[in-house]
Amino acid sequence: MSDKAVQDIDIGESMSMLFGTPVISYQWPDSEELNQELTEVILARERADDQGRGIRSNAGGWQSRGNLISWPEPCIQVVKKRVETMVFGLLRKILPEDGTDRTFTLVIDSWANVCRNGNYNVTHTHPNALWSVVYYVSPGEPDESVPYSGLLELIDPRESANCIQVANTVLDTPALVENVPGKMFLFPSWANHMVHPFVGSGVRISIPNNVHVVEKFKTPQAQHHSPGTATRTLRGTGD
Ligand SMILES: [Fe+2]
Repeated sequence: MSDKAVQDIDIGESMSMLFGTPVISYQWPDSEELNQELTEVILARERADDQGRGIRSNAGGWQSRGNLISWPEPCIQVVKKRVETMVFGLLRKILPEDGTDRTFTLVIDSWANVCRNGNYNVTHTHPNALWSVVYYVSPGEPDESVPYSGLLELIDPRESANCIQVANTVLDTPALVENVPGKMFLFPSWANHMVHPFVGSGVRISIPNNVHVVEKFKTPQAQHHSPGTATRTLRGTGD
């Protein structure tokens, strides 16, 4: 048999991506005034409560306690609206086109993350949420000579697969997120990530938001096909 029997293949026709991980990076326009107000509000909160919520994933720096998204300042409510717009837009995108209306409620938990020289976040996930959405307020003034200073990096979740790559292909897409004021970056909350040590002057300020998505089922039939739910009021026994 001659090798002419083997024809070229249209790979694009046959290829699909398996285990895709959606991320969204969007630059909100006209955000200078908003970011200035957010900076003032967040730094005022820090001055009034220098302990914040203590140490979580952050090595140094300050994180606000409570749910930032419930703060009354109008600039915070703009961030809330932006988070809602992005997440509802993504939900619309991932729903099957079957003509069915579906209702979702977003439960958002947010905090301010303030880093100064030397501060960083160890590798972590955001449990009990579906999407995590980071809004960038201020990049500070990172030292240009220090690689990755203050940059968020997502860790490839495919364990051993991430060491079998060919450089400069879609297989080794950089997972670093630049700090640009007004940028909003969404990623799955299960994705491990870290923030490289911020080396420089000024303050790096971001607002992470954890978004829990709750679907409301309208009809008895839909309830029948939905996962079972149960609600109880519990108190710890201390055992
Ligand atoms: Fe995080």
